[in-house]
Amino acid sequence: MVDEGSKAVAGGELGRLPAWPRKPLNNSAIAAEQAYRKRSGLPLIGDEDIEALKAGQPMSWEGGEAAPAAPAPSVPAAAAPAPPPAPAATPPAAAASATPSPAAAELMKSGFKWSKSSLAAEQARRKRNSLPPLTDSDLALLLGEAPPAAPAAAPAAAAPARPAAAVAAKPAPAMPAVSQVARTGSAVKFVGTPAVGTSKAAAAGGVSSGGRIGTEIDAKRRRLVWTGVVAFLAVWLLAFFRFFLPRTLFEPSTVFKIGYPSDFGLGVDTKFQQRYRIWVDRIPGRLFVIFAKCTHLGCTPDWKPSENKFKCPCHGSGYDSEGINFEGPAPRPMDRAHVEIAPDGQVLVDASRLYQWPKGQASHFDDPGAFLSV
Ligand code: FES
Repeated sequence: MVDEGSKAVAGGELGRLPAWPRKPLNNSAIAAEQAYRKRSGLPLIGDEDIEALKAGQPMSWEGGEAAPAAPAPSVPAAAAPAPPPAPAATPPAAAASATPSPAAAELMKSGFKWSKSSLAAEQARRKRNSLPPLTDSDLALLLGEAPPAAPAAAPAAAAPARPAAAVAAKPAPAMPAVSQVARTGSAVKFVGTPAVGTSKAAAAGGVSSGGRIGTEIDAKRRRLVWTGVVAFLAVWLLAFFRFFLPRTLFEPSTVFKIGYPSDFGLGVDTKFQQRYRIWVDRIPGRLFVIFAKCTHLGCTPDWKPSENKFKCPCHGSGYDSEGINFEGPAPRPMDRAHVEIAPDGQVLVDASRLYQWPKGQASHFDDPGAFLSV
């Protein structure tokens, strides 16, 4: 299938060449036309016709006389000469297509030398900014090429006779579907699928595979990056405020109740060792509380019921069942905590008040509060 932009006229293929009468074409414009024909499966322009195009003469199969020398392509259509043999409808159409739009006139005024890639980028920019795209005529003027031809109805009428059936019967070259879509409606024409991320893909206006999908992927990436940044900042903010909070150890109260005196039988009771670090010791007529801390270097001794003694695991100090040291490096007996009877009749222990028996000094184990008489 031939590109819809090509024009078939009686006697030959006009392709994308401007209809006669036209200005002389330069080598670049002719080479572009040849490339287009090659891509589209149209017959190439012969040497004779190429010379005619350069000289501003009609091609061998076109009717009409040579056009007078034309000024530069950027000159508005008002300077174009009136073609003698062409029908009256052709010159106004050609003149209209050669008039730059205000946007193109603005770009031309900038003095920048436009290339196809820079124009593709400009088209993409206009699309992003919701500006009207440049037309084919504007692009041709900016590139310094001949503007695209007007509808070929008039030249076809003036062209020499060629069987219309032959033109109609000419098999249309197959074009990839993507290429057709990319060409249709786009001011800049490309063949095939534009590479993702290139100006061609951008100019294709989302028709290519890299257009809209790429935009969605970019949006997801941006969302992911921002999520990571926000999470990172949130963690650091929490750490910053945590720095100002006191690092407090919550220890159990040193004053507590352990039950009624009748709850304890004769001997050592170790049920409060883990919670309060004490042993409740009852001997006939007296109940007292031993603070479970070795007087050598502070380890917690173990109660050995089979040996009826406390044994320190650190350096081997030994204490009898009342906490009196008798072996090892311990310098004195283990301390005893203050005890009293609470108003409710329970034993109230204050582990912050200790009674000691310092080595070589008087014992405080018989002081009031060091024991309960039971
Ligand atoms: S700490 Fe108990 S013997 Fe050294």
